[in-house]
Amino acid sequence: MGISIDLSKAESYLGKDELREARAKAGTICRALYEKEDKDKVLGWRSEETSVMQRKQIREKAEEIRREADVFVIVGVGGSNQAARAVIEALPRKNGPEIVYLGNTLSPYTIQRTLERMKGKSIYIDVIAKNFETLEPGSHFRILRQWMREYYDKEELAKRIIVTGTRGSRLEELATENGYLFLQFPVPVGGRYSAFTPVGLFPIAAAGLDVDEYLAGMAAAQKDCREHGEDNLAVRYGAVRQLLYDQGYNIEMMVSFEPRFGFFTKWWVQLFGESEGKERRGIFPAASIYSEDLHSIGQYMQDGRRNLIETFLSVKDPGASVAVEPCPEYGDGFDYLDGMDFADINRAAEEATWEAHARGGVPCIRFEMDSVSERSFGELYYYFMVACAVSGELMGVNPFDQEGVEEYKRSMFAALGK
Ligand code: PA5
Repeated sequence: MGISIDLSKAESYLGKDELREARAKAGTICRALYEKEDKDKVLGWRSEETSVMQRKQIREKAEEIRREADVFVIVGVGGSNQAARAVIEALPRKNGPEIVYLGNTLSPYTIQRTLERMKGKSIYIDVIAKNFETLEPGSHFRILRQWMREYYDKEELAKRIIVTGTRGSRLEELATENGYLFLQFPVPVGGRYSAFTPVGLFPIAAAGLDVDEYLAGMAAAQKDCREHGEDNLAVRYGAVRQLLYDQGYNIEMMVSFEPRFGFFTKWWVQLFGESEGKERRGIFPAASIYSEDLHSIGQYMQDGRRNLIETFLSVKDPGASVAVEPCPEYGDGFDYLDGMDFADINRAAEEATWEAHARGGVPCIRFEMDSVSERSFGELYYYFMVACAVSGELMGVNPFDQEGVEEYKRSMFAALGK
């Protein structure tokens, strides 16, 4: 397993007995997750079934995109684009198209600027929308298709537009009517749980990343969760954060000293925020990238109101090395760094922050991975999805619906005259 968890600086806030009980409860929920029938059609993500769907079509179209596209546009919002974006933006890519994101804003400035950037380039798009009712991806598809019609005939459009939606949706009908490749958004998988379905797999493949390794990470985490009931990483994390929540710690800040995790933390914020924030309950998820944000939010973390949990996302091998060469004649005052590598400097800053915040009364949790790879993303996504399902149940809310989001959507649609 490439990921470990350190709960020592959080468990010190908890009694041994309550911890044992909470872990047993979380373990029971985790085991039940794999045993129960999926009556509500929300647990499609727990097995590998949805990750093998349309693999050949995904591979072939991804290869074509990598050969022919200058720009690949991922059109989607929330769970429909976050997982793929986090992997794509975190990992180095050798070649292939530039990846552009649309369908995630209503800003005319951003839409216009993005279209301008794409002028004269070979474009492919993947429109991802579960039921094809969401305003942002739906409206951007209209705009993009019309924009592409200026450059491509019907046949070329059919080749360059891929759509990912549920069977029976209007998006599938459009695919049939116009000859687009249709990829399935499995019904029993919510957007924020869709990392291992064609929703996440196709963009990751088109970006030229290793889908097999990503799925191997998922399989390893799944085996662990399935086989080690109360003692897997998701259960241990879920139990501790629930106990802390019961003590009044109602904000969790995920932090990383690797800016490349910026989009991952966004995915995590969505997963927990949309799954847990219900019925006036839930831990409020937030995220920061250190060391930059230590110069802003660091003050609050150290010294502000003590209702915060801090969850560190750490990497043993950052996969890069930048040494500080001595330069005695220059006298810039930074000679104490001579001969050090930024890998060590970053790590030292992280350790110092971990110690200081823990001393300042913040329960700290650490997830540590050996290195950043497709495999580690596969593991992380799966563990956090299980943790979220377990947490939701411990919290007494349904982690698979999002009625609050539907409410604002209804209000927005009414304002727009839908
Ligand atoms: O997790 C969820 O269900 C949501 O965040 C959705 O992914 C998001 O609202 C986009 O929905 P859709 O794919 O229907 O456009």
